Amino acid sequence: MTRTLSTTLGTRSILTGIKPTGVPHIGNYLGAIAPALRRASGFQDAYFFIADYHALNSVQDPVRLKELTYHVAATWLAAGLDPTKVHFYRQSDVPEIFELETILNTITPKSWMNKMHAYKAQIDRNNKSGESMDSGINIGLYTYPLLMASDILTFGAEIIPVGHDQVQHVEIARDIAHRFNKQYRTDILTLPTYVLEEGIEELPGLDGRKMSKSYNNTIPLFAGRNEWTNAVKKIITDSVTHTPDSLKETTYYKIFKAVATPEQTAETAKVIIDGEICWARAKERLVDCLEQRFGAASVVYNDLLLHPEKIDEILSDGAKTVRKEAQNRLQVIKRSIGI
Ligand code: TRP
Repeated sequence: MTRTLSTTLGTRSILTGIKPTGVPHIGNYLGAIAPALRRASGFQDAYFFIADYHALNSVQDPVRLKELTYHVAATWLAAGLDPTKVHFYRQSDVPEIFELETILNTITPKSWMNKMHAYKAQIDRNNKSGESMDSGINIGLYTYPLLMASDILTFGAEIIPVGHDQVQHVEIARDIAHRFNKQYRTDILTLPTYVLEEGIEELPGLDGRKMSKSYNNTIPLFAGRNEWTNAVKKIITDSVTHTPDSLKETTYYKIFKAVATPEQTAETAKVIIDGEICWARAKERLVDCLEQRFGAASVVYNDLLLHPEKIDEILSDGAKTVRKEAQNRLQVIKRSIGI
């Protein structure tokens, strides 16, 4: 079931985890980062954290993990996350999350993990390629939803904005909370609700497929003119004379519209349809728009990356505040289970 914004009325807290597995591109910004930041402003408590222990399932190079953590944190800060308004921290700085996970392990049926999509997909791949069923599957992947449930339940978070691929995980977190409460006759764990960030699927990449790091078809978010130009040049184009309707179907238009203002989009569409500018000129306009929209934040981003100690300070201040809350809640949870 798709839950809409109206379900957020009357709720207090929002939480989402950000896996540091890649440098964010404009698709991540438009589909996830910007909507999440807009949404956060309507909540009393917002928890946005770097899910570094989740990332360990795929990034096992320590230098790379550290680097990606800084890139991702700098991206959110440069995109406008205000750490005085949003709790911004590293998952690994809040050990209470892992303590709660150990407790949740003891009430979660194994069968709930067996039905997880990411795990089942790996089993299907193994079956197809003739490998043994569990080949390449670490316990970290198998218990991924348990760690995610802990992220959420440690803070009693109510609203969890996610993409389609994470819906099942939030549902499992909800089921775990419910089972815990029933088992211990308590209501200490808050049942979380997901909201879908719908924009995520829409933006095409340079080759027309969905913009994704794994297709190598992305436009960088925070960059300079040269980098943007090099990417934008690769957008696939055709030599058709376009009508307003056919132009709307082109990769160029879809990307331009996502970055530019409605006025810029209408004006550029008009001059393309009238044959006044060629694709090369149209692409320059897109670079202009990228510069207008992301140029100033790119400066902030680069400055943060030059001073990672500033990022460390922000994240550890964030962790300090939320840890107190995590400790308090964990104490009550432990009392309710007899520890
Ligand atoms: N699993 C999420 C992803 O891959 C990241 C994440 C970790 C998360 N913990 C979370 C999202 C808790 C929402 C709530 O995108």
